[in-house]
Amino acid sequence: MTTPVDPTGTAAWSQLSRLYEAYKPDLRGAFAADPQRAEKFSFQAADLYVDLSKNLIDADILAALTELAEQVDLASRRDAMYSGDHINVTEDRAVLHTALRRPKGDSLVVDGEDVVAQVHEVLEQVYAFSDKVRSGEWVGVTGKPIATVVNIGIGGSDLGPVMVYEALKPYVKDGLECRFVSNIDPSDVAEKTADLDPETTLFIVASKTFTTLETLTNARLAREWLWSGLIRAGAITDAEADKTAAVAKHFVAVSTALDRVAAFGIDPVNAFGFWNWVGGRYSVGSAVGTSVCVAIGKENFADFLAGLHAMDRHFAEAPFAENVPVLMGLLNIWYVNFFNAASHAVLPYAQYLHRFAAYLQQLTMESNGKGVRYDGTPVTTKTGEVFWGEPGTNGQHAFYQLIHQGTQLIPADFVAVANPAHPLKDGDVDVHELFLANFFAQTAALAFGKTAAEVRAEGTAEAIVPARVFEGNKPTTSIMAPELTPSVVGQLIALYEHITFVQGVVWGLDSFDQWGVELGKQLAMQIAPAVAGDTEVLKNQDASTQALVTYYRDHRSV
Ligand code: F6P
Repeated sequence: MTTPVDPTGTAAWSQLSRLYEAYKPDLRGAFAADPQRAEKFSFQAADLYVDLSKNLIDADILAALTELAEQVDLASRRDAMYSGDHINVTEDRAVLHTALRRPKGDSLVVDGEDVVAQVHEVLEQVYAFSDKVRSGEWVGVTGKPIATVVNIGIGGSDLGPVMVYEALKPYVKDGLECRFVSNIDPSDVAEKTADLDPETTLFIVASKTFTTLETLTNARLAREWLWSGLIRAGAITDAEADKTAAVAKHFVAVSTALDRVAAFGIDPVNAFGFWNWVGGRYSVGSAVGTSVCVAIGKENFADFLAGLHAMDRHFAEAPFAENVPVLMGLLNIWYVNFFNAASHAVLPYAQYLHRFAAYLQQLTMESNGKGVRYDGTPVTTKTGEVFWGEPGTNGQHAFYQLIHQGTQLIPADFVAVANPAHPLKDGDVDVHELFLANFFAQTAALAFGKTAAEVRAEGTAEAIVPARVFEGNKPTTSIMAPELTPSVVGQLIALYEHITFVQGVVWGLDSFDQWGVELGKQLAMQIAPAVAGDTEVLKNQDASTQALVTYYRDHRSV
């Protein structure tokens, strides 16, 4: 195992410290002094136009940041990932989500297997299945075509598919709907199935491990719902053979553990595999995206994969000084480690991206929320900011106040597309233009603020002037694309995957394990008997837990 480079010991880090000490944020001044600033700090990555000019940078800072990338060996870490080295050291696994998007005919032999060939073999199965459902050839147990696909999964087996499905709603086949059940709160599955007809519903159980408590519980609940609905309708009897036949027509699975899929009762013929070198939060381009593929069709799904691949190539090939994921990842380092930023907002000016921040939360925080490096030694600096956000303009009327005038620096990424899915007009006004005017206005307001003199010039009473001043110098990155196509959604995902990777490399992390989620899972299984009434188990809990469980048992009435 290589040892991570301590970023704080590099010459670039020292240089960044010096630059930070000397830096006086003044975006107004910077734009006034350099008419080329926007052009100088704007980049193209596949179809994405990315403007970094409203960040707290100058050419020297950017040069020192890219130097930092060199000095922590980012290029060799990236190449190790792309070529299938076991860079997920704590799980001894390759990290090959980039292989999921490589074109047919490419080859990459890892641990003795051509993984690209395997990927395309499964893709063909997913595409064939998707064709059958969409054409009506795949019918339920009573011969009716499928109207609703319900994906049951959690974490990476949910957040990616649901985000992409929502983002690509305009591409969804008429008459077909996807729903997503994730939470073990029984309200989730109850609500999502309440108005569905079992005869026209197909469940996709997506779980990399096929051991996840939430997913298997929900899958069993869904199976019961299916059986009882079909029996009630007189479509099947409760004979085992009928129930097995119903599962075969109404359940498929996506997993790396096909033996467990079979044990659940799903015919392995209806199971789509993937591999342990795909991390859950990096898996939407694998068979985990089957629900999306059924919804938008194989051609659009192939475009989505092509978009992911286009960004993979940009990350692999563009020089660091023009490499957007590299630059954005380094900017995050600049803000977290030098400006002490604790969070990062992602603000899509595209309603269809309304689940983008939720998706990014798992990607970024499960990857980089760590205090130990990949060799087991403690990190040498702060890691892992909180990612959050809501679509504009909703966020403007909720939390932008804090970004504009609060005391914490919150870097923000704004994302928008030029062409709306619904070019509606309010009288003569193109509403998308009004929407985008808000995007442009917010990034300008955050960068340039409003001085006391400007506030006074509006005739504001002196006592109110301080409250109406905007400091400005709030950093933003603007990302624009022509349209929210499947390819562009893929590009956005890969962009953030690689940003996350860059940060993880600088911090020396294994960005692909997630041991921090295990303890709570174990304790839940230990406490469950106490919740169900086992007083012996209850006695072994801490006082707070005992009181909470007792409150629950005293108040549970149904
Ligand atoms: O608990 C966290 C986690 O392991 C995530 O990393 C993963 O995406 C999620 O659970 C679901 O896991 P699975 O796909 O194996 O059900």
